Formats: sequence, C-alpha cells, structure tokens
Amino acid sequence: MQMRIVNAWNEWDELEEIVVGIADDAYFEPTEPGSCPALRDKHAAKIFPFPKGPKKQEVTEKANEELNGLVALLESHGVTVRRPEKHNFGTPVKTPLFEVENQYCAVCPRDVMITFGNEILEATMSRRARFFEYLPYRKLVYEYWNQDPYMIWNAAPKPTMHDLMYREEFWEWSLEKRFERMHDFEFCITQDEVIFDAADCSRFGHDIFVQESMTTNRAGIRWLKRHLEPRGFRVHDVHFPLDLFPSHIDCTFVPLAPGVVLTNPERPIKAGEEKLFIDNDWQFIEAPHPTSTDDEMPMFCQSSKWLAMNVLSISPKKVICEEQEHSLHELLDKHGFDVYPIPFRNVFEFGGSLHCATWDIRRRGTCKDYFPKLNYTPLAATTNSVSRFIM
Ligand code: ARG
Repeated sequence: MQMRIVNAWNEWDELEEIVVGIADDAYFEPTEPGSCPALRDKHAAKIFPFPKGPKKQEVTEKANEELNGLVALLESHGVTVRRPEKHNFGTPVKTPLFEVENQYCAVCPRDVMITFGNEILEATMSRRARFFEYLPYRKLVYEYWNQDPYMIWNAAPKPTMHDLMYREEFWEWSLEKRFERMHDFEFCITQDEVIFDAADCSRFGHDIFVQESMTTNRAGIRWLKRHLEPRGFRVHDVHFPLDLFPSHIDCTFVPLAPGVVLTNPERPIKAGEEKLFIDNDWQFIEAPHPTSTDDEMPMFCQSSKWLAMNVLSISPKKVICEEQEHSLHELLDKHGFDVYPIPFRNVFEFGGSLHCATWDIRRRGTCKDYFPKLNYTPLAATTNSVSRFIM
C-alpha cells in the first residue's frame, strides 16, 4: 500500500505533518499598489518612511529562534515538521506587466499554500512582492507529489498584477469613508481578475469559508467555487464589515473543533451569515481582549493586535497560543482545551503568528459534514472529475 501523505480537511483534526516557515533572507515588504506598509507608531510614521531592503540579521535570528521553538513543540507531540527552502527575496521581480524592487519572506506559508483534502493548491496571491512566493515550497510539493500517488497538485491562475488590477486611491480613503462603505467590500484590488491569498480560506470539512478582503476578491471566490465544488466541497463567501482593512481570515474567525469557532469581538460576521452556523449548532466563543493594543505591536508589524487569536490547533482538544495572551489561555482552558503557550512575538513583523507561519499537510481524519442542516447543492461534478472523495 502506498503512503497517503497529503490529507487535511479542516483546521483542527489531529495534526501529523506540517510546514513551518523560515525567516532567512527576509526583506521588508515594499510599497506597491496592493500594500502600503507604515510604521506602527502614528507619530513616527509621519516623519520616517517604512524601511526598505533586508531585515537585520539579529531580527531574523530572533524570529528563527521562535519558529524553531514551534518546531520543537510540534515534534514533541509526534508531528512531522518540514521547512521551506531558502530563497533570495532580494531579487527584484520584473514581468511583462509589472516590476517590484524586492520580494518578502517565507515565514507565512499559510498565505500562499493550502491543503484541501488530498489537494495542494497554490494561491494566485494579490501582491507583487509575493508573486513568486510559491517557489520556496516547490521542492516540498514535488516530494509530496512524487511520493503520494493520490496527491493532486494545482496552481491557481496568476493575475497580471498590472496597475489596472488595483484601486490605488484605496490607500487615501479616510476612515469615515471606509466606514460608510463597509458594506461595499471594495478594497485595493478590483473585481476583474481572479485574486485570492490562501489565508482567506478556512476549512470545515465539506464546507470552505472564504473571506472577501484586500487580498481576495469576488472573482477569486468564484474561481475557488468552480474549482472545489465539482469535488464535493461547498464554498461560502463570508464578510466582516467592521474590519476596514481585511486580509486573511485567521485573526477574525478561527474554528477550533467541530462546533466551536473563536470569533473576534471587534469584527462580527455580517448579519445573516451567522445563521448557517447557528442552525447547525455551532457555538461562537468571543476572543478576549489581546494583551497589546494596536499601538503596542512591534514597530514594523503590519498586522493588528488580533494576531493574539491566530492560534494553531494540533487536535480538537489542543491549541498552541502565543505565550503572553493569558486571558485567551484562561478562556480556552475554561472551554476544555489544553493550551500550549510559546513565545512568538518576534515573528509578528514577518507577517503573522502561529497559524500564519504554518501550512498543514496531514491531519488524521476524513471529510465530514459539519453543517448537516445546510440545504445547498454544490456545482455539479463534471464528467471527467472525481465525484466522490477518496477517503
Ligand atoms: N490582517 C490580519 C490582522 O491584522 C492579520 C492576518 C495574518 N494572517 C496571515 N495568515 N498572515 O488582523
């Protein structure tokens, strides 16, 4: 019997194999139409530009220490951990349609790569500096593809990333204007091309929830629907209107076990979209206030304080959390989870926390229906596609 290596249907089943990012050769994210990085401190941001070029060696080393700490913890739980290849993120990118001065890093595989059951899918990505971010993972993907005959490998269509793909004035809009328009769900990317980052998807067995955001548009969600539904998945778009700069769902809506989602009290799900969960007996647990305010987050970190809820489940009972988030530890403990705290704040300026910095390859388990009362027919299977899941 040949070995099944790629098999992960949700965010919580018992973890067996995972990829953890590396901080080597990371660069600051450049300013581009899809991203406008700024210093955390609002006063400093008015005077000093966001840095350019490579991250300092000692900063990279500290992040790597914490990433290695995560590896050690996972291995102590019997999980196989793989790492991406080194990549020269200092190389500028020039395609026929755009140019960008440097790339970013391989700390957050979650943003680029996703496992849907026995399929590995490479996202289109939404930013120029991340166009080639699949490269550090390709060697691993080939290895899985060569060793696991059931593994399906796909790469979503690459967008042009031409100026026309972006709405550059988005960055100039005032907060008032964003607030007024929060139900338009229009951000820095336009709707003409297929665009999504993998981290806007959250896997719940048969059901996949995809957030409309600055990094995923409606065409991107349509593409995922047509790609996944003939294989039996159901794809749902979800929205969090009070997040005025949404990007990646894993600091907003985080499933921890069948029937349990950790929710963000400042970013409630759009009215009406909660119904599916309630009808199917899902419980929302509100995350407590994070330890840091947004102003106290690391100077170069572009994510919000809600990285606090970016936890990694290693089973439906065990969750890895950032060490300083004591209120979250207590809450999870109260709900019957075992909490494994580890330091991770030095990773924050590389794009995320524990969930972002990982990409699960295999979790023990099969594809289940956690929304049995859902009355929804997925797009029909085409004649030449697999209509049933291989378990
Ligand atoms: N945009 C999110 C926030 O600031 C951060 C998401 C990080 N997630 C990730 N997969 N890189 O709340």
